[in-house]
Amino acid sequence: MEPSEVKIGFIGAGNMAFGITKGILLSGGVLPRNVTVSAPSSNNLGRFQELGAAVTHSNTEAVAASRLIFLAVKPHLVPAILREVAPHVTREHVVVSVAAGVTIATLEELLPPESVVLRLMPNLPCMVQEGALLFSRGSRAGPGEGALLKTLLGPCGLVEEGPESWIDAHTGLSGSGVAFVYLFAEALADGGVKMGMPSALAQRIAAQTVLGAGRLLRDSGRHPAQLRSDVCTPGGTTIYGLHALELGGLRAAVMGAVEAATERARELGRK
Ligand SMILES: NC(=O)c1ccc[n+]([C@@H]2O[C@H](COP(=O)([O-])OP(=O)(O)OC[C@H]3O[C@@H](n4cnc5c(N)ncnc54)[C@H](OP(=O)(O)O)[C@@H]3O)[C@@H](O)[C@H]2O)c1
Repeated sequence: MEPSEVKIGFIGAGNMAFGITKGILLSGGVLPRNVTVSAPSSNNLGRFQELGAAVTHSNTEAVAASRLIFLAVKPHLVPAILREVAPHVTREHVVVSVAAGVTIATLEELLPPESVVLRLMPNLPCMVQEGALLFSRGSRAGPGEGALLKTLLGPCGLVEEGPESWIDAHTGLSGSGVAFVYLFAEALADGGVKMGMPSALAQRIAAQTVLGAGRLLRDSGRHPAQLRSDVCTPGGTTIYGLHALELGGLRAAVMGAVEAATERARELGRK
């Protein structure tokens, strides 16, 4: 099926739903009028209307109007909402959940037999089409559904497929990783302030440094150690700074942070 023909529904109108909607509409392949978004209040629906999407307070209406349904509500709401919409989900629907920690087994259990389910873990930079997304196919989702999702979500950023066992690691590395990068950017800017720079300028320069380094890393396809080595003049400033970071245990701290966030995602999934 061509993306332009797919009717897409969102249950939940929060930040993640908005980021994904902006991305899929940017592709140009999806028509805004083919997107329907549901949420209990009108608090967040206006911005979807501005994009040309249809909005409703009825989750079942969103399901009835769509073939591909994104479940974008807080994880604790998923069981009740799936029970509510399950009678309206047919074998023609494809349900994509972004709820952290909610397993494919749980989703399949709550939906009618033969439901096609995928689990997707996006991250916040989807909002600016620079997300890192990993999805896993449920037991009844075929390569065709995976390919459709990849095409639709392409404008949201990097979209990869993997086994469900990687989803929690992806949450630690990339979902939470965004916050780890912000902490690093804040520390870079604070370093600039300590060395006498005005705070606002240091912050702008830190943001651009993180962005530029990230783009170079992604676009060059080179290993970060190679790029780092390119910046290190023997006896120069960077190797002195890197030595300070190694003494501070940055590498171990970041690996520990990804591990801690992954373990927490696993723990939340078991609850
Ligand atoms: N934010 C992230 O970085 C991130 C990353 C990966 C995954 N996720 C996952 O994405 C999901 C959504 O997160 P979010 O940050 O977008 O949350 P959010 O901004 O808090 O939005 C939640 C949305 O759910 C709606 N909602 C509440 N009860 C509902 C119901 N009964 N039926 C339909 N909609 C209902 C809310 O409606 P109102 O508009 O009326 O309040 C709101 O629009 C979560 O499961 C989270 O785990 C988030």
